[in-house]
Amino acid sequence: MDSKSNLLFALTFIFISSHISTTQVDAQSLLLRKEKVTYLHFFLHDIISGSNPTAVLVAKPNNTNVGSGNPTPFGSVFAIDDPLTDGPELSSNVIGNAQGFYVSSSQDKLTLVLAVDFGFTTEEFNGSSISVFSRNPVLENDRELAIVGGRGKFRLARGFAKLHTYSLNGTNGDAIIEYNVTVFHYE
Ligand SMILES: *[C@@H]1O[C@H](CO)[C@@H](O)[C@H](O)[C@H]1NC(C)=O
Ligand SMILES: *[C@@H]1O[C@H](CO)[C@@H](O)[C@H](O)[C@H]1NC(C)=O
Ligand SMILES: *[C@@H]1O[C@H](CO)[C@@H](O)[C@H](O)[C@H]1NC(C)=O
Ligand SMILES: *[C@@H]1O[C@H](CO)[C@@H](O)[C@H](O)[C@H]1NC(C)=O
Repeated sequence: MDSKSNLLFALTFIFISSHISTTQVDAQSLLLRKEKVTYLHFFLHDIISGSNPTAVLVAKPNNTNVGSGNPTPFGSVFAIDDPLTDGPELSSNVIGNAQGFYVSSSQDKLTLVLAVDFGFTTEEFNGSSISVFSRNPVLENDRELAIVGGRGKFRLARGFAKLHTYSLNGTNGDAIIEYNVTVFHYE
């Protein structure tokens, strides 16, 4: 480049820079940060039974031949607002809630596909959340979910959650699930 085009280049750059929005500044500052890893440990309470369910059936197929007789037959869709606690009891400290839905997705082995936002309401991650979109073979005692994004301090998150069934009532579907989450994020 000669000095003239250098100058043009610089001026163009200054022009573009001065038009960078705050969103772009946010993105730039994220780029400069080092990725960090956070481990989260909590219990999710998915309560289908009783008068205060945290998971409600919103649709199911007319033909329930597959999986009929179990609380989540193939094709059924549940909306959830499940409390997350720091211990296994429902009376333990609530640290957030899991909101979204799951669909019973397998014709043979009971599996749910989750589309759920896990939002936290205490301490460092108050107001932040992680997004899970993953299949969940609930009858396997230990399983894994994919974390595909997040909000707040978990912007651009990715990671995985190891799940362990703490308790499951096969009759009414109520479950307490232990989560060990490994999340990579920047803020
Ligand atoms: C299911 O669908 C069939 C055929 O469309 C209909 O005859 C039947 O009444 C439906 N059953 C229920 C429970 O809605
Ligand atoms: C979490 O954040 C909300 C909104 O900023 C605030 O009202 C609430 O007091 C915070 N909770 C805790 C436990 O810090
Ligand atoms: C989660 O981590 C705790 C503590 O390290 C461990 O005792 C527990 O077995 C783990 N559970 C799962 C589901 O990975
Ligand atoms: C499982 O659910 C059934 C039906 O609601 C109930 O009768 C039973 O007591 C529950 N079992 C446990 C261990 O809570």
